[in-house]
Amino acid sequence: MRKPLIAGNWKLHKTIAQATELVNSLLEKLADVKDVEIVVAPVFTALPSVCRQSQNSAIMVAAQNCYPQTEGAFTGEVSAPLLADCGCRYVILGHSERRQLFDEQDEFINEKVLSVLAAGLRPILCIGETLEQRDSGELFEVIAYQLRFGLAEVTAEQMTDVVIAYEPVWAIGTGKTATSEEAAEVHAYIRGLLQGLFDHEVAEQTRILYGGSVKPGNIGELMAEADIDGALVGGASLNAEDFSAIVHFPKPLRMSNTPLP
Ligand code: 13P
Repeated sequence: MRKPLIAGNWKLHKTIAQATELVNSLLEKLADVKDVEIVVAPVFTALPSVCRQSQNSAIMVAAQNCYPQTEGAFTGEVSAPLLADCGCRYVILGHSERRQLFDEQDEFINEKVLSVLAAGLRPILCIGETLEQRDSGELFEVIAYQLRFGLAEVTAEQMTDVVIAYEPVWAIGTGKTATSEEAAEVHAYIRGLLQGLFDHEVAEQTRILYGGSVKPGNIGELMAEADIDGALVGGASLNAEDFSAIVHFPKPLRMSNTPLP
């Protein structure tokens, strides 16, 4: 059984003081949560304080990016071992904003995935198609390409630490969510690809998150889909009430621990 994972990507938002306030309020609101893994991804400057604050709690911390080299003359970059040193457990990689705004290519993203795994951290590898690609019938080709290249040289054993996030670019920050059926179709396709790239066990154990305008009002139907194992939340993760409501999504029967009568 895959444990659901809800991650908040704060993107370029919040000062250290604002991040601290949000985490304090999440620690309070999410204290009862046991059956969902919770991750927050603040900006680099807030990582040390958020890591300190969330130590010994159910909240884990992700960085939003890293550089694949461990150290050296790479002005302005941060490496995976340094993020581990800071207390991070996850690193978001290949987000569409990095692909589009910073021209990150799959090969470079793959180098980051491998460096994150080598540092003992868990990559959240983001993949997803643009509207043009979907409209021109390239959806599955794009997903297969990004997954295959993003995971190049990752072993089946390392896959226990890898999380995939399907984020259709046209649904990010637009208020336009993929319908749960549209998302489920791609999630099932990704799981099939994982079976082909690795094996049945890897396909069954790998968590595949959905991202793109996830809100308290749509998380329930998304999570009711068998292949959707959680969410990567942008805008709604900046607000403690909304993020808490998303983490407390109504549990589909398959995730409930309640024994059937
Ligand atoms: P929104 O939830 O704001 O659409 O952002 C999604 C996202 O990009 C998460 O990484």
